[in-house]
Amino acid sequence: MDSGNAAPMNSIAPPSWPWSPILYGNLSEILKETEIFRRADSLFILLDDNTEKFCFPILAPLLGNLKYTTIVIRPGEGEKQLETCQQIWKELIEGGCTRHSLLINLGGGVIGDMGGFCAAVFKRGFAQIQIPTTLLSQVDASIGNKTGIDFMHFKNIIGAFSPPEAILIDPQFLQTLPSRELVSGLAELIKHALIYDLNLWNKCLGYGKELASAEVLSSMIPQAVRIKCDVVEKDPEEKGLRKILNFGHTAGHGIESVLLEEGNPVLHGEAVAAGMIIEANISRQLGLLDEPNYLTIQTFLFDLFPKIDLSAEQIEKALVYMLQDKKNKGNSISFTLLQSPGKAVFDRMLTEPELIRLALLEYKSL
Ligand SMILES: NC(=O)c1ccc[n+]([C@@H]2O[C@H](COP(=O)([O-])OP(=O)(O)OC[C@H]3O[C@@H](n4cnc5c(N)ncnc54)[C@H](O)[C@@H]3O)[C@@H](O)[C@H]2O)c1
Repeated sequence: MDSGNAAPMNSIAPPSWPWSPILYGNLSEILKETEIFRRADSLFILLDDNTEKFCFPILAPLLGNLKYTTIVIRPGEGEKQLETCQQIWKELIEGGCTRHSLLINLGGGVIGDMGGFCAAVFKRGFAQIQIPTTLLSQVDASIGNKTGIDFMHFKNIIGAFSPPEAILIDPQFLQTLPSRELVSGLAELIKHALIYDLNLWNKCLGYGKELASAEVLSSMIPQAVRIKCDVVEKDPEEKGLRKILNFGHTAGHGIESVLLEEGNPVLHGEAVAAGMIIEANISRQLGLLDEPNYLTIQTFLFDLFPKIDLSAEQIEKALVYMLQDKKNKGNSISFTLLQSPGKAVFDRMLTEPELIRLALLEYKSL
């Protein structure tokens, strides 16, 4: 895979990429070149309290004389649920939304996933656009057409594949992002490197903590986006290769679900970072990944991300959640594991919870 340099403005993925063009650069420049908002009979903008305050002031002046309705929800993963969808659908009905309307999802992965899902099923589907405003959503969540919500604390268990009309990525939104959120987003970028691109992994190692700086990110975002596009293009519906993107997510979602249920949530990227350490450990236990690479991954991730404290009881609960993961078959838990940095294997079915428990306990003891 060629990592290349930063993509020129507006050219990460052409309209031929599965279903949606991906445009990167300054939003005002992007919008000059597209009539995308003008095709709709009415325009709705989904925001949370933070993106209303920090991101909408960037978008609003670019809408000119277009009429629009904003729908504002509370921020956070705890809102990514059916009750909030009901609020959104109610406001769409009250605002006269038709099958020819357009929803702009201006926010992080929560807004993108939930807005995408709400649009996918409302009147059997109407158009939506993703304008991701967190690092995590710019390099991962907005790309690949997966939409959805959490249910009974199970992450993303209700959802649909639903391509947006376009994905518009402007790094200027990251300027107001709290640093903890920025670092959380690095987890998915590092994951892309670990599963698919040794060159990008070596760059990550080289930058270390500097990875989170604006100059570094402006070249890394297009590279990370291209990796995701490449994988999704080869397997849009996750029948095979796309499963490599789940690295770190089986254990990560288990941990995230337990802490969400207990009312003490961690950020998605923080859970995925923990999940990558745990799943690299499982890869090592199975003889796939060698010890030096495992230790490098573990040290690198611990330098960037906070360790998540887990009790023995929480580990058992995380295992129960992992058994419910939507990727599983029968009684076995499906993992994506690492052979080496840049090379992942998918569909590794583990029927032996002891091995997974051991990796969780080792993480706890680090
Ligand atoms: N669909 C997919 O393929 C996919 C992939 C990865 C993750 N996800 C999902 O993405 C979600 C996590 O996304 P996230 O990390 O973006 O979380 P998020 O949407 O909750 O955003 C994080 C926080 O940052 C705030 N925020 C957003 N943009 C801001 C800005 N520019 N300035 C200031 N504050 C801002 C938000 O209000 C929120 O408080 C999870 O629900 C995860 O399951 C989906």
